[in-house]
Amino acid sequence: MLKRTKSRIIPFLLIFIISAVAFFSCNETESKEMNEQEQKIAVDTTMIPNTKFGAAVKYGRQLMLNTAYYIGPNGTKGRYLGNKISCTNCHQEAGTKLFSFNLMKSHDDYPQYRAREGKILTLAERINNCVMRPQNGVKPLPLDGEEMVAFLSYLKWINSFAPKGEEVFNGQKNKAVDLPAVAANPEKGALLYQANCARCHGKDGAGVLAADRHAYRYPPLWGAQSYQPGSSMHRVIKQAQWLKSNMPYDKATADAPVLTDAEALDIAAFVNSDKIHQRPNPKTFDYPHPEEKAIDYAHAPFVDPFTEEQHRIGPWQPIIDYLKSKGYTATY
Ligand code: HEC
Ligand code: HEC
Repeated sequence: MLKRTKSRIIPFLLIFIISAVAFFSCNETESKEMNEQEQKIAVDTTMIPNTKFGAAVKYGRQLMLNTAYYIGPNGTKGRYLGNKISCTNCHQEAGTKLFSFNLMKSHDDYPQYRAREGKILTLAERINNCVMRPQNGVKPLPLDGEEMVAFLSYLKWINSFAPKGEEVFNGQKNKAVDLPAVAANPEKGALLYQANCARCHGKDGAGVLAADRHAYRYPPLWGAQSYQPGSSMHRVIKQAQWLKSNMPYDKATADAPVLTDAEALDIAAFVNSDKIHQRPNPKTFDYPHPEEKAIDYAHAPFVDPFTEEQHRIGPWQPIIDYLKSKGYTATY
């Protein structure tokens, strides 16, 4: 009896030891893989249904990826954008990449009060803000047109993959950057730009068009073909938060940023300096209630005594402290 039990236990023990050894020797690579999985939500585009709705989702995805081909300056579906930047150049992987202005929750989150306009916007109106500002639009998309319906259908579909039950899921917002006690430094940013960014975006920031000339291989960061000063990407903190996880494109990840927070802020201060660089349509759309302005939205009037320059490049802590002391919320 005893013998038989032993002989049964031994093979189990062996299997246990072998798997324990295997487990510990692969442990390092396994935990790395798990980490990568944590930072990605698989959105399987083969699951887009073969229905009329699915066709709209597919078209919406194409619009995200190759925006100007359809609605750009020479767009096959009409001329809406003033430049050839694609939505996916900022909302990477067609809005599904984490920590990259992710759009998977947007369908849940609108209609929403927007301080910028001082009113409640629908998701369609919010999309048109990106058509008009970062994409330097000549006119907004008709709210019930095929393209807007396709964008909305696509955003609804990717929303079905978004983690539910959380107010904000991990990766929906970009990572925070620490705000230093000193102002961001555009001169340092210029040197960092040449070292980390110019090889793709060009010394002149003009980017490189793709072979088909409908979209960019490397999108422009300033100049007539880039985003307007009223875009959120033009806000220094906002841009730095995005750069941290996403640029340089071939090296940075959310887990392993290449730039320090201070470097990301210096580069964003250089890229977004209106003294150094030109941009299209410097007109801005102002917050009707100045107390609701994001602190790095550097267009007067403000409810605080700080200059446009300080709002643009900091130091921001005194602004935050002042706003708090007056009972306002400091957003950025
Ligand atoms: C130059 C960069 C850039 C481009 C190009 C761009 N966007 Fe945006 N978009 C942003 C930024 C920055 C925000 C603000 C995100 C934030 O505040 O966290 C934003 C916000 C949005 C939002 C609101 C997200 C939310 O949940 O609140 C939607 C929807 C959106 N963009 C759709 C689009 C679409 C569709 C296109 C293409 C037609 C596009 N964007 C092009 C930078 C860009
Ligand atoms: C290896 C090439 C490469 C390098 C280096 C690189 N980028 Fe990019 N950048 C890209 C590509 C490609 C995109 C578009 C991303 C996409 O479509 O997924 C992009 C997009 C951007 C955008 C958003 C689109 C736009 O036109 O505004 C900004 C801002 C940006 N990069 C800034 C930077 C900065 C700042 C650096 C240096 C820290 C940098 N990039 C380094 C390739 C690069």
